[in-house]
Amino acid sequence: MMACQTDSASSDATDRQIENRIDELLSRMTIEEKIGQTNQLTLYGTTEELCAAISRGEIGSLLNVIDPADVNTLQRAAVEQSRLGIPLLIARDVIHGYRTVFPIPLGQAATFDPELIEQGARIAAVEASAAGVRWTFSPMLDISRDPRWGRIAESSGEDPCLTEAMGAAMVRGYQGGGADDPTSVAACAKHFVGYGASEGGRDYNSTSLTERQLRNIYLPPFRSALQSGAMTVMTSFNDNDGIPSTGNKWLLTDLLRNEWGYDGMVVTDWNSAGEMVTHGFAADTRDAARKAIAAGVDMDMMSHVYAQHLKELIEAGEVDEKQLDDAVRNILRVKFRLGLFDNPYIDTARIARVTYTEENLAAARRCAEESAVLLRNEGDLLPLDASKLRSVLVAGPLADAPAEQLGTWTFDGEPSHTVTPLAAIRAQYGDRLRIGFDAVADYSRQRLSPAQLAAFTTEASRYDAILLFIGEEAILSGEAHCLADLDLKGSQSELMAAARRSGKPVVTVIMAGRPLTIARDLANTDALLYAFHPGTMGGPALIDLIFGRAVPSGKLPVTFPVTTGQIPVYYAHHMTGRPATGNELLIDQTPVGAGQTSLGCTSYHLDAGFGPLFPFGYGLSYTTFAYDTPQLDKSFYTADETIHASCRLTNNGKRAATEVVQLYIRDRVGSTVRPVRELKDFRRVTLRPGESRIVEFELPADRLAFWGLDMQRKVEPGEFDLWIAGDSQSGTSTLFTIQ
Ligand code: BGC
Repeated sequence: MMACQTDSASSDATDRQIENRIDELLSRMTIEEKIGQTNQLTLYGTTEELCAAISRGEIGSLLNVIDPADVNTLQRAAVEQSRLGIPLLIARDVIHGYRTVFPIPLGQAATFDPELIEQGARIAAVEASAAGVRWTFSPMLDISRDPRWGRIAESSGEDPCLTEAMGAAMVRGYQGGGADDPTSVAACAKHFVGYGASEGGRDYNSTSLTERQLRNIYLPPFRSALQSGAMTVMTSFNDNDGIPSTGNKWLLTDLLRNEWGYDGMVVTDWNSAGEMVTHGFAADTRDAARKAIAAGVDMDMMSHVYAQHLKELIEAGEVDEKQLDDAVRNILRVKFRLGLFDNPYIDTARIARVTYTEENLAAARRCAEESAVLLRNEGDLLPLDASKLRSVLVAGPLADAPAEQLGTWTFDGEPSHTVTPLAAIRAQYGDRLRIGFDAVADYSRQRLSPAQLAAFTTEASRYDAILLFIGEEAILSGEAHCLADLDLKGSQSELMAAARRSGKPVVTVIMAGRPLTIARDLANTDALLYAFHPGTMGGPALIDLIFGRAVPSGKLPVTFPVTTGQIPVYYAHHMTGRPATGNELLIDQTPVGAGQTSLGCTSYHLDAGFGPLFPFGYGLSYTTFAYDTPQLDKSFYTADETIHASCRLTNNGKRAATEVVQLYIRDRVGSTVRPVRELKDFRRVTLRPGESRIVEFELPADRLAFWGLDMQRKVEPGEFDLWIAGDSQSGTSTLFTIQ
């Protein structure tokens, strides 16, 4: 697709030039050289061995080369020693920052701030490209509605509209001012598709998504990322309805190429071509190679099946050489677009100049600040007034854990550059406050004895306030790190209770890669900030929030369940025939010996009710915002009109603050059942104390379209509700009609 690159006449000319260069090159390539381009390997063996393979034209892309000088050495083997001089494409998982680590993507999504996310991705690209990385395996666009799944940390959460906005922002940031800018890094829209719906939240597991679910929920973020110019796509590990993505021709060719017109490159996930054998979808690695290329996979990441079998398959007439040519064309196109043929080497001195700059650290700090979500603030305990305190106890296993606060997928972030909350409070308030520190537990899972907990209560009672930093270490989320139980690990719940028993004000900060089930813990803290894993500058950002130099503005990008058994629980669920009313009897109110009846029964859990602990879009501030009923410019629209919606928002408190204003709709009647609410747009609005402003949205009616009964994307006429609200459950709706 790359539609945005082909808009102008000059980029058309560049595209034509590139296609001509590809044709010319392809006409000179041997079959072995073509197969070499499709082969992506990780760093292995000695540099000499690698250079020899590269100069023989056996490798098209390398991942995980981390030394900038090595990049030039390996590139020289490709450009100066291989017969055709085709440059290598160097790849790395730069997921939420390179050296300067930003909050995990789930935290970034909580900012609802695409501009800031774009800036973060740009910074990541500038830093990574200085190390020779020109391709990152990001953004991860998997809609994630199951917090047991460890990879929810890498996602933008449960919502297609938010994921679209965040993903497109990342693509713009990575690919910078233009693909051939040497600081541009090709984005990779992954994992295509449905991976986030892995059954039971267990990684690599199967999914059973219908085409309608794919088209309405899981595919739109990919479409947007490609429309924003994402140069590559990665297949996912899961089999959907029995078909592994890497062998799914409908997905990779019929939809991606033919329907969407995508002309970028498709890479497998790590060994996912080979794993089709383990799935039992391919008889052996030869069959896997045949199925992957037939489906439309261009590059094989790490399963060697193309390198081992494509030549033989072509000679046997089982694979058409044209399929290989198409794959190579897609790969070369990315290399040309990145300017690698003209500019293959890097300036190895640049990395020292561009990493950890003041600007980069400030952006990471701002992102961490905006990503924290205030979930509780009893008696307006926060922000703390430092002038009214003499002492503060900083406690908990995540108060001073520099590697842990970076979160998952931070190969290149350096704990030595991380500023923890403890370091930040000492630096900012060390001269004014007596600051005590006690990690109490070395790590989140550690069990504490009753004596240790009692000692902590005694210690805590000697301070004016307690700041407790708990949650989960980086390794408890991310790939293959799924959990069946989302309660706080180890003795952390008891630690909160012990802090509470001190009688002193307790502020709890949770750093985690996912929502945790903290319903029972809330009563043990006056205030709770949910920080996800906040990255390099998490410490200063959190201390700024706690002491009021900054005001929380993060909103939840994912629903927080009351208990694990409620999962999946997400706001945009379908309306059932028997929706919960909120008046259901819970288990304790259910009489012993009560007779069975289905009269008046509704959809809920006896032991958890129906509602979540905190809904999608929720987050408190140090002020309160009031929303008036939304106003529309008309009550009737046609499907090609734009709905102008507005709402008066008032800051009722005493502090300037930013609110994430969210626009939701509900399609009352559809040819298929529609979600009870769907986010369609959002905006961050900053208001002074007492200030009131009309917040306006332009919603093209086309955004109400969905894939209904006839599997065509269209806006179905009828009545719609529209909310402008501070989260997915509050607000007053206004009705409009599409004619
Ligand atoms: C992950 C991908 C990642 C790749 C390369 C795989 O295990 O699923 O998301 O990009 O490894 O490191």
